Amino acid sequence: MPNKKTPVKKPTAKPASSEGGVTTASASSKKAAQPLQVVRGMRDLLPGDQPYWRQTNAIAEKLASAYGYERIDTPIVEDTALFVRGVGRATDIVEKELYSWETLGGESLSLRPEGTASVLRSYIQHGMLNMPQPVRLWYKGPMFRHDRPQSGRFRQFYQAGYEVIGDADPVIDAQLIILGYNFLKGLGIETTVRINSLGTPESRANYKNALVAYFRSKKAKLSEEDKKRLLKNPLRLLDSKDPAIVELKAEAPQIVDWLDEESKAHFMRVLEFLDEVGVPYQLDPYLVRGLDYYTKTVFEWYANSDDQELSQSALGGGGRYDGLAELLGGRPTPAAGMSLGLDRIVSRMKEKNPPSQDHRMPQVDVFLAQLGEMGRKRALALFEEFREAGIPVGEAFSKANIKAQMEIANKRGAKWAIVIGQKEVLDGTVQLRDMDAGSQEIVDVKKAVHEIKKKLANRNGVDTSSVTV
Ligand code: HAM
Repeated sequence: MPNKKTPVKKPTAKPASSEGGVTTASASSKKAAQPLQVVRGMRDLLPGDQPYWRQTNAIAEKLASAYGYERIDTPIVEDTALFVRGVGRATDIVEKELYSWETLGGESLSLRPEGTASVLRSYIQHGMLNMPQPVRLWYKGPMFRHDRPQSGRFRQFYQAGYEVIGDADPVIDAQLIILGYNFLKGLGIETTVRINSLGTPESRANYKNALVAYFRSKKAKLSEEDKKRLLKNPLRLLDSKDPAIVELKAEAPQIVDWLDEESKAHFMRVLEFLDEVGVPYQLDPYLVRGLDYYTKTVFEWYANSDDQELSQSALGGGGRYDGLAELLGGRPTPAAGMSLGLDRIVSRMKEKNPPSQDHRMPQVDVFLAQLGEMGRKRALALFEEFREAGIPVGEAFSKANIKAQMEIANKRGAKWAIVIGQKEVLDGTVQLRDMDAGSQEIVDVKKAVHEIKKKLANRNGVDTSSVTV
């Protein structure tokens, strides 16, 4: 039985056939198989991309530790109800973008579209309320939204997220903004944070009424989609890019005028803290965010750029969500958090610092070249000895030609090559070549690793008297 409370999309994929599923013998014999492609909106992060990802991962971890966050990993799959309750039934993320399916057991499950709801579920489920508060947790991993693929929008994308649970102080909001600012700055991206306050649920409800009244009076100018928004989630009209709405927005009531005193005071404190640290921000009365759980402060980082597209694509965002724990069945627990969109950050890094065209293979100190089957066997075993000794070692065991092997040794930057042929195997030796000097010596195979260790120590100017065989 489908769960009536949670939306379950009909499967959009065709049933498994020779195209999508198992290819039958008769189908494959009739038609040459088409090369399969990556799923639309998803992509491969290729070896050339990895240096950028390593950099973002390193800074994510470094700042987590500097600001006192502990790592958490929640499953990629959750109960659909978690996102319906947490993110909000009327949001685009839940209404249109959730990857949901029903299991054979009748459960409605979804791929996570974001991390906050899962982290809070885990906080409640594991009684983290009993730990010293606030609890600071961070995570990194793939999120899934069945969004319309376009520049900077993927259906599988990566976030690094930071959540502070169990503290209502505005300094928490400010420090999250500072963390995100430093994250981006550390990767060479200068940003300005756009910031707004949505107030308490009460002040937000009052503001919503005022906004609905205003847009109702302009109904004739609204598209069908925006009319639906007006009914379901009127705040979302404020971040519509539709030119008619953009024009109407200028006259629309602004949320700051509807904030209760406490939210106003909270917001002022956040801004004061940002001023103190010198983090650049811009007040944005139209910033409402696409998730329903926010209360009080909301913010998004944008790259400082004249490029229209770049300056409209948030590199990350977050805010306070004091009501989410209760929505998920926990005790009232104030909390705030943010997450950074790593895909967009990496494309920004690539633009500033394009990947080099020559493919550089991992560099090694020593290369094992072999001649004949006996030599190959001995070299295979010696490779393990070097690897266990922690010495970067290269090989081309599938190649027989010695010239081809030496070319690879050069490409991999090997300082020494060890050559083993049948004669060396029978003598229990190896030829040790200095690749720069072109000189060569015969060394006992049992001492090969030790010899290289000694040479490496000499090269690095280390006292070798303690190097033992
Ligand atoms: P969000 O604004 O939905 O917030 O996502 C955060 C960031 O993820 C965005 O600013 C953007 O950089 C990136 N992002 C979102 N959707 C896509 C997409 N389809 N393709 C590529 N990048 C994307 C959240 O997810 C909240 N959980 C943030 C938060 C944490 N609030 C409180 N704690």
